[in-house]
Amino acid sequence: MNDIFRIEGFDRKRKLAGTIPVKGAKNAALKAMAAAVLFEDELHLENVPNIEDIARTVELLEQLGATVQKTGEHSFSIQVPENATSELSSDISKRFRASIVLTGPLLARFGSVALPHPGGCVIGKRPIDIFLDGFQKMGAEILEEEDCYRIRAPKSGLQGTELFLRVPSVTATETFLMAAVLAKGKTVIKNAALEPEIQDLARFLNTCGAHIEGIGTPFLTIEGGSLLRGKGHVYTTPPDRIEAGSFVILAALAGKDVTVENCRPEHFEALLDALETAGVKMEVSDTSIRVLGEEGQVFQPVDIKTHEYPGFPTDLQAPMSVFLTQANGESFVHETIFEGRLNYTEELVWMGADIMMLDVHRMLVKGPAELHGRELKSPDLRAGIAYVIAAIIAQRKSVIHNVYNIDRGYEKLEERLTALGARIVREHE
Ligand code: EPU
Repeated sequence: MNDIFRIEGFDRKRKLAGTIPVKGAKNAALKAMAAAVLFEDELHLENVPNIEDIARTVELLEQLGATVQKTGEHSFSIQVPENATSELSSDISKRFRASIVLTGPLLARFGSVALPHPGGCVIGKRPIDIFLDGFQKMGAEILEEEDCYRIRAPKSGLQGTELFLRVPSVTATETFLMAAVLAKGKTVIKNAALEPEIQDLARFLNTCGAHIEGIGTPFLTIEGGSLLRGKGHVYTTPPDRIEAGSFVILAALAGKDVTVENCRPEHFEALLDALETAGVKMEVSDTSIRVLGEEGQVFQPVDIKTHEYPGFPTDLQAPMSVFLTQANGESFVHETIFEGRLNYTEELVWMGADIMMLDVHRMLVKGPAELHGRELKSPDLRAGIAYVIAAIIAQRKSVIHNVYNIDRGYEKLEERLTALGARIVREHE
């Protein structure tokens, strides 16, 4: 079902006020669900966001033979039995990239996995060489078939080894981390990604019997062992730092007095630092951010360069660029992670933004620009939320198509934004 959002813009007036809660992090919950494969018994998860990517993960796990019970609006119990299969459904995997993290635990536990070429947002090449190299170093054999890679661990099981990641890939770090929990002996992951969701998962796995050291550093050491035990433990998904950051940006542009609550500001300091430099007034506590706005407020331009955590997240680059269209002067945006992640700018220019593309990674954003409501199609999840923000501050009405892309990562977005005073309605196309 592909819904649309109809949004009536505020024409740069500040009309939003109140409190908006942040849901659990998509990119944490997806990996924790994959980690259920490492458990001999049930894994309980809470604060799981009610979004499309989670629904797809449930389908994938069920197709593997897992029992997945929804125990509450945001909680699940998952059990993966000994006789589960390890063939990932290609229809589902193609729709979202996170499916790739299942390959690590499946290969480690069941000795083989069929990995369809993974999908996800269309934001660049998104190769899988690091995964294939790493599995080979752990002793696996890889056969390339027409629509999948067939990966087999040696008879004695995956072997612990030293893995140097060419780039600190988030999903590769998570995949090897989980594989190593059941591999033989010691695995060292060098140049590991540091994102808070990874640290959180590693700490949780340790409470259930894993032996992971170096959490929060680029060197993870994992001593392999037997299946983990979930009894007595609950995985509580941390708040989504990208969602929180997107709401702070929206509040900075269109809010009178908005509090973004249930978040961990320490997880997105790079954004807060940039907004502070621009002149956004915020009161930051451990779990919330209050954004105070004044009519006619002038923001300073800021240059941003995306970087792995704790740098400026690529997932906030599109919403931040919308912010920069309203700053007084020229900002330089450098997207270093994905080469397709500035594709959304054409639509912003069509709305009236003054953006000069320098190449696929770099652009100049000049502000302040008057934005005009338009009919837009969300190309990916984060560009989708950027369009929502742009439409809210624009003149007149906008229509955003392909809301599925937004539903992949944001739970009931229109309800939460309406509660703040936004004029946004969902319709079935
Ligand atoms: N890369 C390779 N080879 C590989 C794997 C990655 O060259 O085998 C490159 C990528 O092409 C990219 C860089 O490494 O240039 C970093 O990509 P990474 O692997 O870290 O990205 P990812 O793990 O595929 C996750 C998030 C993304 C987020 C990025 C960066 C999940 C499911 N996805 O992707 O989230 O943008 O890390 O932080 O965790 C989103 O939520 O909208 C989203 C796209």
